[in-house]
Amino acid sequence: MNKPQPPLYFDNHATTPIDPRVVEAMLPFLKEHFGNAESSQHPYGWKAKAAVEKARVQVADLIGAEGKEILFTSGATESIHSAILGFLEEQSPGRHIITANTEHKATLEVCARAKKFGHEVTVLSADPQGRITAQQVKEAIKPNTAIVSLMHGNNEIGTIHPIAEIGAITSEQGITFHVDAAQTAGKIPIDVRAMKIDLLSISAHKLYGPKGVGALFIRRTSPGVQLAPYIVGGGQERGLRGGTHNVPGIVGLGLACAIAKEGMAEESPRLQAWRDRLIHQIQSSLPDVLLNGDPKNRLCNNVNLTIKGVAPDDLLLGLSDIAYSSGSACTSGTVSHVLQAIHKDPKLLSDPLVVTVRFGLGRFNTADEVETLGRRLIEAVQNARAVSKG
Ligand SMILES: Cc1ncc(COP(=O)(O)O)c(C=O)c1O
Repeated sequence: MNKPQPPLYFDNHATTPIDPRVVEAMLPFLKEHFGNAESSQHPYGWKAKAAVEKARVQVADLIGAEGKEILFTSGATESIHSAILGFLEEQSPGRHIITANTEHKATLEVCARAKKFGHEVTVLSADPQGRITAQQVKEAIKPNTAIVSLMHGNNEIGTIHPIAEIGAITSEQGITFHVDAAQTAGKIPIDVRAMKIDLLSISAHKLYGPKGVGALFIRRTSPGVQLAPYIVGGGQERGLRGGTHNVPGIVGLGLACAIAKEGMAEESPRLQAWRDRLIHQIQSSLPDVLLNGDPKNRLCNNVNLTIKGVAPDDLLLGLSDIAYSSGSACTSGTVSHVLQAIHKDPKLLSDPLVVTVRFGLGRFNTADEVETLGRRLIEAVQNARAVSKG
């Protein structure tokens, strides 16, 4: 009997499979090199410390920073907390934050918390393609604006924000600029100096590294950004983040960054070509399929479609051999805040015969798999539409 095949994986915005080279590099630090990076009196500690410092430089190299500007965290959520709340703790009360309504919940919830601490928040509205302009940021600036926090690429609809243009404005006005690069680090070249970024959040599991580890870039060129520690304790990470280092995870993050840096120029255009072919394949075969997000300024691996005339459950059944993400309307009762932000017609999202699907292509997909995905989606939509017509 044939073994059942695992579903084809197209949910690379949620998480990426770990690169086998990263696993190999981590293994010795789970086995023989198990030392604590803060143990300064024996070789176990020295080995761990050297590995952590090597990874710090590898992360920095990916974004045009220096090793001493990298803080290791547990992932992008923690980096965002440290960046925004750690920064505001060093400020006087009543400061102003600018963010946007399509941000990841990690940012939106942190801003809501900052509000509780007496700060003011402006949430900019993205346009129907999920875009925020530099002009919008400029117009929202007030005398008490202290920090702008925006994502580089959107995890749902793939829209890429004009980070360098916004950075030019914030740096000119002396406002700190935090960028959530969870979806773009390793996919789009990032140069924190050229883009005038002060704080930048990264997550390893979005770039073929392990889960539970990430980094925060904190600009240290003079005058450096001052942050209060978000997690206090043993004084690790220059006192900014207490807790024993996750040495295997940090080693994995470092190598994941080095691999991404080396391969990006080949990998991103390849995924982008597959992305465009997939969108064309689907839209030329099916009517009533809308592409969400910016068609041009878009993550190289993102396909997000709203499909009319299909019940989400029927599609799910028809596509059980594909791992993807569905931001469907009524069934789960959870229409994503990003779709709500860009779809000005609320009826579209509450229609029980409308479904939104997100496919995230990744390093380990093949051209054949992407072609299969397109074919399977077209069949599944045609069948589901036939069912719903009765
Ligand atoms: C844009 C964005 N920001 C932040 C996060 C949070 O990342 P982590 O899982 O590393 O906490 C994610 C992950 O879903 C994301 O896509």
